[in-house]
Amino acid sequence: MRITPNNAGLGARVEGVDLARPVSPGEYRTILRALGQYGVLCFPGQDLDAAQLSAFGARFGELEVNVANLFHAPGHPEVMILSNKRDAEGRPVGLSDAGQGWHTDMSYSKDIALANVLHAKEVPLRDGRPLGDTQFRNMHAAYDDLPREVVARLEGRVAIHDFEKFWDMMRIRPGSIRGPLTPEQRAKKPPVPQPIFRTHPITGRRVLYCNPGYAMHIEGLERAESDALLEFLFRHQAQEKYLYSHAWTPGDVLMWDNIGTVHNAVADYRPDEPRYILRVQVMATLDYAALAA
Ligand code: OGA
Ligand code: MN
Repeated sequence: MRITPNNAGLGARVEGVDLARPVSPGEYRTILRALGQYGVLCFPGQDLDAAQLSAFGARFGELEVNVANLFHAPGHPEVMILSNKRDAEGRPVGLSDAGQGWHTDMSYSKDIALANVLHAKEVPLRDGRPLGDTQFRNMHAAYDDLPREVVARLEGRVAIHDFEKFWDMMRIRPGSIRGPLTPEQRAKKPPVPQPIFRTHPITGRRVLYCNPGYAMHIEGLERAESDALLEFLFRHQAQEKYLYSHAWTPGDVLMWDNIGTVHNAVADYRPDEPRYILRVQVMATLDYAALAA
């Protein structure tokens, strides 16, 4: 296995491993460590079906079955389909607007996610250039650069994260097929507190764990102060120097750290430019410090 870091300080290519087959214990540990260190791992040239993607993801933790998962691979409720394609009857075959806005997967959940694993089958192309990049920002670096007085002010504090915030942001966009959350969906996803800073389970370093997609307010502060601090954190983390943009190639398996990064799906392609991606969400259910040691 060869690991080639990007020069962005985030992201690496991992070659020489076939993810369709079980990875060895040594490869597993190397991948886990690289995930913490580089945040985003691209395994190019892979060819996995839903069962193989699910098996790879499940090595790293329990897989999530999304409450609002409208589209999944046959027989695999844990394998979500992200796509703008439609079937012969004109019905969507996948969720077409997943992640279009900066966010962290599952921060709205009491139990957080370790990683997301996506496998691109079709990538939109225009004039030979791939569209629909997925962008990432480095929350290890963002934490390290925070002014000390901001760290002191927010250490030990929690922000309230709400699934409905991002859902409704997507829903009000023209052409959205999302309906309002049903009372049952809402009941399964109540707002939850999350520490603003946390220790990353793989790297042991502190990260900024607060994203504009789900964080609503900081508990225990007046609304105006909470709004101002969140605005500061979101601007701070949005700096160019933390950015890595992944341009997809069909066959890529992209595994990213959902504790040490935030991400955004770029919606720069049209309905007639097909994108088709399989996805599993890995919940943080194992002792990663021990597994990476
Ligand atoms: C996600 C997500 C980004 C993309 O699956 O959680 O944000 O580019 N996807 O599809
Ligand atoms: Mn996402």
